[in-house]
Amino acid sequence: MANLFFLVSGEHPTLPFSELEAILEVEEHKYRISEKLSQVLRIQAPSESIRSIATRSAMTRVCCLELFICDASDTEILRTVRSACLEGVMRQRESFAVRIRRIRAAAQHINRGELERKLGEQILKKVENAKVNLTTPKKTFFGILTENRFVFGLKMAEILPKSFIERRPQRRPFFHPTALSAKLARCMVNLARPKAGELVLDPFCGTASLLVEAGLIGCRVLGFDAQRRMVKGSLRNLAYYGVSPEGMIAADARHLPVKEVDCIVTDPPYGRSATTLGLNTEQIVRDFLSAAQENIPKGDKICIASPKSIRIGVIGKESGLKHVESHMVYVHRGLTREIAVFERN
Ligand SMILES: C[S@@+](CC[C@H](N)C(=O)[O-])C[C@H]1O[C@@H](n2cnc3c(N)ncnc32)[C@H](O)[C@@H]1O
Repeated sequence: MANLFFLVSGEHPTLPFSELEAILEVEEHKYRISEKLSQVLRIQAPSESIRSIATRSAMTRVCCLELFICDASDTEILRTVRSACLEGVMRQRESFAVRIRRIRAAAQHINRGELERKLGEQILKKVENAKVNLTTPKKTFFGILTENRFVFGLKMAEILPKSFIERRPQRRPFFHPTALSAKLARCMVNLARPKAGELVLDPFCGTASLLVEAGLIGCRVLGFDAQRRMVKGSLRNLAYYGVSPEGMIAADARHLPVKEVDCIVTDPPYGRSATTLGLNTEQIVRDFLSAAQENIPKGDKICIASPKSIRIGVIGKESGLKHVESHMVYVHRGLTREIAVFERN
């Protein structure tokens, strides 16, 4: 087990942490949470878990091997780095850079640039013939000032937003205003906890945002939509991102033409831009959830988005599902989504 820490996105207070834990669970990495700080998760876990996070996560930014944590004061930080062990972290003659991030207004009394320079000086003293290289360093030390703490370590992976931006709804060949962002879609897929190779179903697939993300992490995918033109559009989007579905069918999600899948991740219509075929959203979701649990094995998950007002957490429980978690995501004045995760009892 190694001490690791992750800088997560600040766009939501709970989703990034839950996504990280869901990935650790599904990839079967044993872990223990040491501490949750603003935008930082500190854990004990095998260092291989970093690879799983870097491959799957939408809401993690930086993954690090932790060297130390201390109070956010200049004297305390410099005292701690002097006694820190850099053996096994940096070799002689290697080049390095030190980068510091401040979360919100944490530790305003500390000057970031100055601290980077002072930490660099200490590393130069500790490692024989080390060199500073700010543009293409071999190793990057990464520190985060968060709340009243300073966590410092070696950067092992960084997740750049570029690929998610490239899959923005407006950049896909088939667009519809109801489409989810690639980032939220990936996060929802992770919360449903499918392993690579498992079969993921989205029975209200729309433009296939969720299926594209599931396909890109190696899952097999299956999609339904009541409207034939959405199924055709989904097929175009899937092909564009190189995902071959097991099947894409025009069907009513309340009567699924499928026997068993490994998990369901979905976003039923809200009756605004997406058609509800004349039914009300709450009824569709209620009918769907009571029928769908027959289609997944016991213990497997359904991750579903819906307007907060319909209280999906309650509907799921009334349908006999175990409510694992819910996250409220503000979209605009008229819409807050509830992202809920259920497990079949
Ligand atoms: C909110 S949209 C899904 C958007 C999708 N998550 C995306 O990112 O593109 C809901 C979809 O459900 C479809 N739909 C409505 N009623 C349905 C039903 N009874 N069964 C299956 N699909 C249905 C609509 O045609 C619409 O495409």
